[in-house]
Amino acid sequence: MFLTIIIIVITCIFIGRFLKKKSSYSLPPGPTPLPFIGCLIQMLLNKPIVRWIHKLMDQLDTPILCIRIGPSTHVIAVSDPSIACEFLKKQDEVFISRPDVMSAYLVSDGYRTVAMSPNGEQWRMMKRVLSQEIASMPVHKWLQPKRDEEADQLLRWICNKIEKQDGGLINIRAMSQHFFTNLIRNITFGKRFFGQGTEDGWPGEEETEHVVAVFTILKHLYAFCITDYFPWLRWKTDFDGHEKIMRNAIRIVRKYQDPIVDERYQMWNNGDRKEKFDMLDVLITLENPKLTPEEIKAQLVELMIATIDNTSNAIEWTIGEMINNPRILKKALEELEDVVGCERLVEEQDIPKLNYIKACIKESFRLHPFAAFNPPHVSTMNTTVAGYFIPKGSHIILSRYGLGRNPNAWEDPLRFDPERHLLEEGKQVMLSDNDLRLISFSTGKRACPGKTLGTTMSTMMLARMVQGFDWEAPGNEQSIELVENYDDICLAKPLVAVAKPRLPRHMYPAY
Ligand code: HEM
Ligand SMILES: *[C@@H]1O[C@H](CO)[C@@H](O)[C@H](O)[C@H]1NC(C)=O
Ligand SMILES: *[C@@H]1O[C@H](CO)[C@@H](O)[C@H](O)[C@H]1NC(C)=O
Ligand SMILES: *[C@@H]1O[C@H](CO)[C@@H](O)[C@H](O)[C@H]1NC(C)=O
Repeated sequence: MFLTIIIIVITCIFIGRFLKKKSSYSLPPGPTPLPFIGCLIQMLLNKPIVRWIHKLMDQLDTPILCIRIGPSTHVIAVSDPSIACEFLKKQDEVFISRPDVMSAYLVSDGYRTVAMSPNGEQWRMMKRVLSQEIASMPVHKWLQPKRDEEADQLLRWICNKIEKQDGGLINIRAMSQHFFTNLIRNITFGKRFFGQGTEDGWPGEEETEHVVAVFTILKHLYAFCITDYFPWLRWKTDFDGHEKIMRNAIRIVRKYQDPIVDERYQMWNNGDRKEKFDMLDVLITLENPKLTPEEIKAQLVELMIATIDNTSNAIEWTIGEMINNPRILKKALEELEDVVGCERLVEEQDIPKLNYIKACIKESFRLHPFAAFNPPHVSTMNTTVAGYFIPKGSHIILSRYGLGRNPNAWEDPLRFDPERHLLEEGKQVMLSDNDLRLISFSTGKRACPGKTLGTTMSTMMLARMVQGFDWEAPGNEQSIELVENYDDICLAKPLVAVAKPRLPRHMYPAY
């Protein structure tokens, strides 16, 4: 009797499975598209689009959502780690491409660069160059003096600011954006500034214009531009104005960068330059493959974009959260005293041991990513994922926001709690998460090649700021209002905090 029941149950399960396999898979749930235009009207009526997509996922209670826009583009949003892993790990090869969209086309100058090029020979070549020649360990070590110099500059500049103006009010957003850009400029071009900078060693008008343009590009990259879904309209109309904004911002960035590239080519050609000093030298002197000036110029624009946003945003949120949770700030300080002691400044060699500091940054990547979505991955053939049909050419956008706050993956997801990333004694905290429970550097063939540089830059900046200064909310406030923008998910108001020196003066770099 018992046995019969078990056999019947098992047979039912098998038949069920069989029937499910037999029936053709359907698309993931989503709003019903109209013929030809798809969900375009809903999309335009429900701006900001980022919030609309997440609201739909909540309403339909689905971790995978399909929105058709235009006649044939399926945009597929994902907020569940195991489904995300099916896309980027199990079927990595299928989802290896990037979409052909106006913004990416313009920034990459017709897909000459790594991050934005669709799957193909150009992408493979540039990815190899970037991983092996630019983001390699030997190059990383070689460029350390530049990073050390900028880490000292950071302390100098904050000290200067505290002495010059009463109160020591620091705009953390401006400071971290400039810190990373100054650093990247020295690493790539061998100069911190395009112009003269200001007297106290900080960026001037030219650098500010450059940074603003870089962030403008970022805001409009993969930003659901209407003509991306009606490709035959591209370059003919500019409904949402994105094309004009993009062209203008790219022009500004290139106005500063391209002449340096041209000049450097000349120096190598006429023998004024014989030794490599920075990434630009590496790119120009590369023999196999030999890059064209156009490729180098476009790649340098992309490198600026790839390095600044995620890092500066994470530092801004982390400092804000630390000010509001003095317990966290105190633990970070204790770690620094433990690892570094009180006699010297924190250095890059300490990074492997700064696990709590790294856990704080990782927690910011989880809870406060710079953008709501990972850059889109595009499928190169029809396939099925999580039991759903995913047509060739779909744009897969993993939600950094949804993954990082997924209540099935994280306990009490809205709480800023670095402890959740700490591992057992002796194991290093890594900023990356290969199980995609959050997205920092992502995973698979399209993963970020700048993991080491990104980790180093952000950990050093936070460690120096915590070691060097006490941080407090401005005025008589006890805490800082940490509110997201409605249009995107950045901090609504740039973070301003009060810095007070906490080390004896002789420990700061001379200023
Ligand atoms: C903390 C800092 C950084 C974070 C959080 C970060 C994150 C990411 C993410 C999420 C992606 C997309 C992966 C995907 O599509 O699945 C990516 C791609 C990329 N990153 Fe980073 N990145 C950082 C720093 C850097 C740096 C310093 C470089 C410079 C070497 C860099 C170069 C790139 C490139 C070239 C790609 C495109 C790879 C491809 O499409 O094949 N990133 N990064
Ligand atoms: C760039 O880094 C080097 C260290 O390699 C440093 O000597 C130099 O001062 C930096 N450039 C500028 C303009 O600060
Ligand atoms: C983070 O860095 C990668 C590097 O290219 C970039 O593609 C991505 O858009 C950046 N920002 C966000 C918010 O994902
Ligand atoms: C992919 O799926 C679409 C829609 O179901 C179908 O029309 C097309 O023939 C399929 N393509 C391939 C190569 O199987």
